[in-house]
Amino acid sequence: MKTAEKGGKTVPTMANKILRGAVIGYGFISGKGHIPAYLARAKAASADHVSVEIVAVADICEARRAEASKAIPGVRVYADYETLIAKEKANLDFVDISTPPCDHAKIAHAAFEAGLHVLCEKPLTTTLEEAASLLKHAETAKKVLFPCHNYKHAPVVKTIRDIIASGKIGKVRSLNLSTYRNTHAKGVTEWKTNWRREKKVSGGGIAMDHGSHTFYLTFDWLGAYPTAVTAKMTNLDADKYDTEDNFSCVLTFPTGIANANLTWTAGVRKVIYTVQGDRGAITVDDDELQLAVMEATGGPDVAQGAVKWNVEKRSIESDWMDASHVSWFNSMFDQFADCIEKGEWVGKEAKEAYLCIQLITNAYRSAAEGCLEMPLATEVTF
Ligand SMILES: NC(=O)c1ccc[n+]([C@@H]2O[C@H](COP(=O)([O-])OP(=O)(O)OC[C@H]3O[C@@H](n4cnc5c(N)ncnc54)[C@H](O)[C@@H]3O)[C@@H](O)[C@H]2O)c1
Repeated sequence: MKTAEKGGKTVPTMANKILRGAVIGYGFISGKGHIPAYLARAKAASADHVSVEIVAVADICEARRAEASKAIPGVRVYADYETLIAKEKANLDFVDISTPPCDHAKIAHAAFEAGLHVLCEKPLTTTLEEAASLLKHAETAKKVLFPCHNYKHAPVVKTIRDIIASGKIGKVRSLNLSTYRNTHAKGVTEWKTNWRREKKVSGGGIAMDHGSHTFYLTFDWLGAYPTAVTAKMTNLDADKYDTEDNFSCVLTFPTGIANANLTWTAGVRKVIYTVQGDRGAITVDDDELQLAVMEATGGPDVAQGAVKWNVEKRSIESDWMDASHVSWFNSMFDQFADCIEKGEWVGKEAKEAYLCIQLITNAYRSAAEGCLEMPLATEVTF
């Protein structure tokens, strides 16, 4: 392990360290996203970054355990997370939870009990009570709880953040975020491919499945947390499924307003985001970004025709069509490793995961009560 000077003392640092992990749930996201990213990270090991070794996998599905054994050299496989944790805890630093949402909380609690850090796929949990109890457990166990908020690591999303920080579009006042999908995301065929349409497994439909990505981006871009939500949703296949496939909401922020639309019944797969500032705007359509900036011509009250717009177009390759988002993973994992190094058990990302669950569950209440506006707390209490 490397060392560094801190306050006159030589202390170990995480650089050059290997974090040993176990993956719980070897389905689509771990098979196509997490594991290939971990293997690439291990291969690219250098003295400057934390490497990873995946020593064990648990999956309740035999066919998926067989796939894990083929994909990960030397991995030990288990049929349930309890046995994996009992047998492997001494060999582990962290657990990566990649099961459907209904099991996230119980697996994370078991990992904290065993003294392990937790990287957990979104949504963190399906209820606010579960989210609060996980944050509390992380704090008392002194272990990191970190959600996979990977959209923040898409190259085009990083560019949006940089433009906002540069001040070019002025103060951000409103947002529109639309996510179009032509179907619900499907899980691996060997297990329950359509689990996202079964509430007892998923906790909800597209808002529970994708809402976190949309909502943590709104927090970032408006630089605040929402104080209220009003929502509407439909289920166009209610004869077959019990979760929503279309969801729209309006969020009130102290700094502005955000409109979000999520659909599993679109004719195309893409995201379209617009960020409106008081001096310019950003429009993103997957990889294509347009930045429009108002040229100073005597302030905002000049006649419409007198305003000059400087428009710049950029194409930023972000691999949106690859639903595993494997290319975004290691940038996010760096943040997780950083929290471990700093002892940040419940950091900004974990608190925002809680706020996302608060938002989603209150949006469901709003939709059930005819779009009634629901207040939201901006402080995280646990
Ligand atoms: N961040 C992202 O961009 C992104 C993308 C896709 C999925 N996800 C998330 O990843 C998680 C998994 O989704 P997926 O698409 O990979 O699903 P999936 O159905 O493809 O895989 C789930 C796997 O978990 C296994 N499993 C189920 N319950 C288990 C349990 N209790 N213990 C051990 N194994 C169990 C199943 O056998 C299956 O192999 C979900 O939380 C989902 O929201 C995130």
